[in-house]
Amino acid sequence: MKILMVCLGNICRSPLAEGILREKIKDLDAEVDSAGTASYHVGEAPDPRSIKIGRKYGINISDLRGRQFTEADFDHFDKIYTMDASNYRNVLNRARNDEDKAKVELILNEIEPGSDREVPDPYYGGDQGFEDVYRMLDQATDQIVKKIKNGG
Ligand code: 4NP
Repeated sequence: MKILMVCLGNICRSPLAEGILREKIKDLDAEVDSAGTASYHVGEAPDPRSIKIGRKYGINISDLRGRQFTEADFDHFDKIYTMDASNYRNVLNRARNDEDKAKVELILNEIEPGSDREVPDPYYGGDQGFEDVYRMLDQATDQIVKKIKNGG
């Protein structure tokens, strides 16, 4: 199972999602990566606040570097988890066919199917926003791991 986490900048939410899931799938036949729909932060390390919240829970994401989502990601990945409605629309708009479209999901729908809840963009907020994001992603990735163990 190849999973891609997508947000806007690939420096706050999706690198955390990648780091948290990577830790949980260490012993499974699965891989995870992350990307942003925007190009502003390509090549950059994650936001220091995301690095800090990860470190608090034993997750090291400091080596990750931002990259932009591309259509080739539809070829490589089985599942593409987006953080909010805007990322979801952006990725879906790049889909070339129904097979591509079927790979795209809002990540919190793994916790509450069909709820269409979003992982809010924490970039302009304070530390509590990153704490909230961490908790949501921890729960969502638990569900993703269950799915992987059940064969996807
Ligand atoms: P992310 O957060 O999408 O979770 O990485 C953001 C990072 C940067 C910006 C917006 C959101 N920005 O506008 O630069």
